[in-house]
Amino acid sequence: MDIKRRFNVPGKKYEKVVRKPPKGFDSANDFFEHVFMDKEMIWMGQNTNHLHDNTIAQAMSDCIMSKEYCKYPAPEGFTELKELILKDLGLKDLNLLLTAGATESLYLSMHGLIEKGDNVILSDPGYLIIGTFADRFADHVTYVPIYNEDCQYKLTPELAKKYIDNNTKMIVLIDPLNPLGSSYTEEEIKEFAEIAIENNLFLLHDVTYCDFAQEHTLAAKYAPRNTLTIYSFSKIFGMAGLRIGAVVADYEVIDVLKNVVVNDLGVNIVAQQCAIAGLKTKDEWMERIRNQTLNNQKLIKECVDEIDGVFLPVYPSSGNMMGIDLSRARIDPKRMAEYLLTKKIFTREGEYTSKNFGQNYLRVSFSIPEEEIKIFCKEFKEAVEVLRK
Ligand SMILES: Cc1ncc(COP(=O)(O)O)c(C=O)c1O
Repeated sequence: MDIKRRFNVPGKKYEKVVRKPPKGFDSANDFFEHVFMDKEMIWMGQNTNHLHDNTIAQAMSDCIMSKEYCKYPAPEGFTELKELILKDLGLKDLNLLLTAGATESLYLSMHGLIEKGDNVILSDPGYLIIGTFADRFADHVTYVPIYNEDCQYKLTPELAKKYIDNNTKMIVLIDPLNPLGSSYTEEEIKEFAEIAIENNLFLLHDVTYCDFAQEHTLAAKYAPRNTLTIYSFSKIFGMAGLRIGAVVADYEVIDVLKNVVVNDLGVNIVAQQCAIAGLKTKDEWMERIRNQTLNNQKLIKECVDEIDGVFLPVYPSSGNMMGIDLSRARIDPKRMAEYLLTKKIFTREGEYTSKNFGQNYLRVSFSIPEEEIKIFCKEFKEAVEVLRK
């Protein structure tokens, strides 16, 4: 008898969401562990940032040597860190909850605010786990197709309006968008803010990659009572393995999220100290990392422009990742990712970030040393010639 019937568990809860393991691996976890353990692997598959010097690492090391980690941290986050995050965003009169990565913030937002009868709108392509979380609580999750030039590869205000219905409770804006790097103008953000206020719905503004963008506007500035701003230390701060992030919102909204908290004893204290150091020193390293990342994507653009049948849907990307469209060269992105792995380059096939358009593109991230980008460019060019035959 299956688990649902044995324990009389309600519908959605036990529907399995298991990622298909890549070829040759029993599970997605085995695959990630395999690439992680290979110290020579060029890391372009996770939008992480490999360009930091020791500034942040030193703070972590100091915290470890002080052995402060034997105590529990303040459960909702240290005040200094919370104030630094709000200052970094330039937001006032809002509260925040510190979480184990932006991922936990995304989950708590869905758990706390979405219930049966509610619909949630997000884009396809997009960061699919958000939809998966939404699906656990909502009646319906609408994936708006955006993989086309007409909408500039993003969920526009016009598109959102088209898909809103009486039950829509939340619109998810990933800005810049994982996987393509599309982002919003201030005008568009203002329009989204108006939509949220007029329709009395939440705007979940995931700004995980905002510091890579040349320009960025926070929806919370125009619709502070309707917006949840999802903040991550995994990308520009280069702290993905430390698992720390936050959700910023109206005091009342944060109180609702506190009701569904699991991590009741707080977020890793070493990560919090490291985050404080990262925010305090951001001015010292941010421009260098941003410029290096921008230059790296230029190198990839030059390489792609030289290859027939391959193009970048969005350029420049406002994030530290981009999609490379392979469809006109008739190359399956999965085969491309597998091929590059044999050259010790880890990238992601489009399926990872799209239900309906994943067969078109490969996603690569580029906040890695320039020498590695050059290796990628050389191998990618060869790979296209091998695979299109
Ligand atoms: C749009 C988006 N939001 C959130 C996350 C997860 O961030 P974190 O590592 O802080 O959990 C990612 C990770 O790639 C992402 O792409």
